[in-house]
Amino acid sequence: MRHLLTLDHMPRADITRLLDRAEEFRARGQQRGLLAGRTVLNLFFENSTRTRTSFEIAARRLGADVVNFDVSRSSTAKGESLLDTLHTLEAMKLDALVVRHGENRMPDWLAEHANTMVAIINAGDGSRAHPTQGLLDALTVRQRRDDFENLSIVICGDIRHSRVARSDVHAFTALGAHDIRLCAPRALLPEDADEFRGCALTEDFDAALGDADVVVMLRIQKERMAAALLPADSDYFAQYGLDARRLALATPDCLVLHPGPINRGVEIAPEVADGAQSRILDQVGNGVSVRMAVLAEVLTPAA
Ligand code: NCD
Repeated sequence: MRHLLTLDHMPRADITRLLDRAEEFRARGQQRGLLAGRTVLNLFFENSTRTRTSFEIAARRLGADVVNFDVSRSSTAKGESLLDTLHTLEAMKLDALVVRHGENRMPDWLAEHANTMVAIINAGDGSRAHPTQGLLDALTVRQRRDDFENLSIVICGDIRHSRVARSDVHAFTALGAHDIRLCAPRALLPEDADEFRGCALTEDFDAALGDADVVVMLRIQKERMAAALLPADSDYFAQYGLDARRLALATPDCLVLHPGPINRGVEIAPEVADGAQSRILDQVGNGVSVRMAVLAEVLTPAA
């Protein structure tokens, strides 16, 4: 694997190999010799807590040097084009560029325009893909349930703007899931239903939760929409918030996931976020192992 841009059309065998490798790193903790002498640069044009930090920790646990490029203090703020920025950074001999950008397909564009062998890893582009999140969500589910073909999975929230929903659907379906229910108010359902071929779309969260084995809750991405589309927080919680009453509609051991950042009292109640069925902190821990696996995959030639 030369770059990681999307999970769309990634074969099951590749996803399984990355998840297996992530489990090995989770058990081992670190392997500092593996990427010693390599340089990973985090280039984030959008805010991030978990993703940027966990890429940094992952790279360090494999022995790589990590540079965090501060976009707001860089020459991109002085009008330098992204192409000039790319070639400037490449001239410093980078091995991997971890990029988050507000525009769809910007990581692909960087991969196409790179002059060197730098590996491009997509850390989230617009609403299109967040492949390491899809992998870590699949790993979090697989640790409890590896029979994806039998699972009923609900993804609820701002599906329309969510790169997490897209990459989750790619990962879960590649692993065999075929009952995926996407739930949101109409304005936050996908504009193009074909994009989520095979998933059921619904506005009725209570009905969607019936017999669910996994529920992935998503934040409303206010930064990606006009205020007119936004319901008031309290109205949203009344219809789409996951509280203990609603969770009881699902199977008794239904797993609760959320990529973070969570908005307590908007899409999820504290009693659920902190409750026994919540796997939210497992997701965070798995994020480091998955990113170690991805960095190792793109930076070390296959054995
Ligand atoms: C998500 C993202 O940035 O796409 N967060 C994350 O990476 N953990 C989801 C979000 O911002 O709501």
